[in-house]
Amino acid sequence: MSRDPEIRPAESAEALQEAMAEGFGFDWTADHVTHLARTLELERTRCVFDGAQMVGTCGAHSLRLTVPGGSLPTGGTTFITVRATHRRQGLLRAMMRAHLDDVREREEPLAVLWASESGIYGRFGYGSAALAYRGRIERAHGAFARPVEAAGQLRQIDVEEARKLLPPIYERVLPERPGHIARSEAWWESHLADPVWERDGASKFRYVLYEEAGEPRGFLQYRIQTRWHDSGVPNHILSVVELQSVDAVARAALWRYALDVDLVGTVIAWNLPADDSLPWLLADARRYRPSWRDGLWLRLMDVPVALEGRRWETEGRIVFALRDELCPWNEGTWELEAGPDGARCCPSQAEPELRLGAEELGTVYLGGDRFAALAGAGRIEGSTDAIRRADRLFRWHCAPWCPEVF
Ligand SMILES: CC(C)(COP(=O)(O)OP(=O)(O)OC[C@H]1O[C@@H](n2cnc3c(N)ncnc32)[C@H](O)[C@@H]1OP(=O)(O)O)[C@@H](O)C(=O)NCCC(=O)NCCS
Repeated sequence: MSRDPEIRPAESAEALQEAMAEGFGFDWTADHVTHLARTLELERTRCVFDGAQMVGTCGAHSLRLTVPGGSLPTGGTTFITVRATHRRQGLLRAMMRAHLDDVREREEPLAVLWASESGIYGRFGYGSAALAYRGRIERAHGAFARPVEAAGQLRQIDVEEARKLLPPIYERVLPERPGHIARSEAWWESHLADPVWERDGASKFRYVLYEEAGEPRGFLQYRIQTRWHDSGVPNHILSVVELQSVDAVARAALWRYALDVDLVGTVIAWNLPADDSLPWLLADARRYRPSWRDGLWLRLMDVPVALEGRRWETEGRIVFALRDELCPWNEGTWELEAGPDGARCCPSQAEPELRLGAEELGTVYLGGDRFAALAGAGRIEGSTDAIRRADRLFRWHCAPWCPEVF
């Protein structure tokens, strides 16, 4: 593009879908538009136009994200594409500028996204903040070390019941796990919609509920991909879409169910928290094949509001110097004094004990990753003592995890 990009909201869901499908390289139908429109905030899109043609797409969801001990308004970046003819000319950079300005105007102290490739968003101050673990186990090796002592029952439910019974379970889990997103009715509608083009040859969603004395305490949402060996031996794949439970017993009961479905050869989960109990339930844990990838990326848009908006399990004080080229209002030296009763984060004249960039602060914010690991990679500077204190302070008792891509 020879002139400055013109950035404005998309005029319709259909126009956005058309340009986005081009950028991601898939064919779209009217059903895609219906699905997109469920959660679309058209006024928050920031698209690039070259004449009449939409050549760049960028959108945002107005989210509420669970952070350690609380939740904060959050701009959820989404729908990012640039048409292949217009790439590497600065269009993504221009859209991110417009998007970050919008998030700041709305006073959302955090911004989050899922990335198609892990090399893109660090430069925009986003850090990999919650990992997504993939787990795989052959059903033949699915025996548990100890029997599940579950007093409740499992019950298959259909999508109508899922619409009623899944949200209250999620509401109970939501505040406990940093990285979760509050789901509106429209988000549930989208989450359970199950369009055929998302099934990749597998079955529609199946739902199993774990109940005790009639009270729902956990659910498993999954698909089955039917497969038969040439010899006639069944070898189906059970893919866990989401497993949520209010306690460990419900979780174990649901895992037991997943590992006991006849004709299934392999159980795969595409996105589990780092501290999921499955490997510890198994009698032969070495047969479990975990691998991880980046999941939720997070950026602090307002450093004091974001840090004062989460909770802390121990007392601590740290002075750090932050680099944030794209959001210069965050730059400078900050003193964080935090403890179980809350935190105070103020500009400081003191000598910084740590030096880090916006990306690294985004990585450690939810309490999952370690200052020490980032320092070991040369990404945070500071004395061993300061790094250890920061690690103790930021740590949270459970791993951050985002159960859905948006
Ligand atoms: C990823 C994509 C949006 C980048 O758009 P673009 O307009 O070419 O990006 P820009 O020209 O603004 O590049 C901005 C910076 O990002 C870098 N960058 C762009 N795409 C990158 C990629 N895929 N991996 C790593 N870096 C990338 C550029 O080198 C540039 O770096 P610099 O300014 O720090 O030197 C575009 O390639 C695309 O549409 N890809 C397919 C769809 C997709 O993956 N979308 C992202 C969904 S999360």
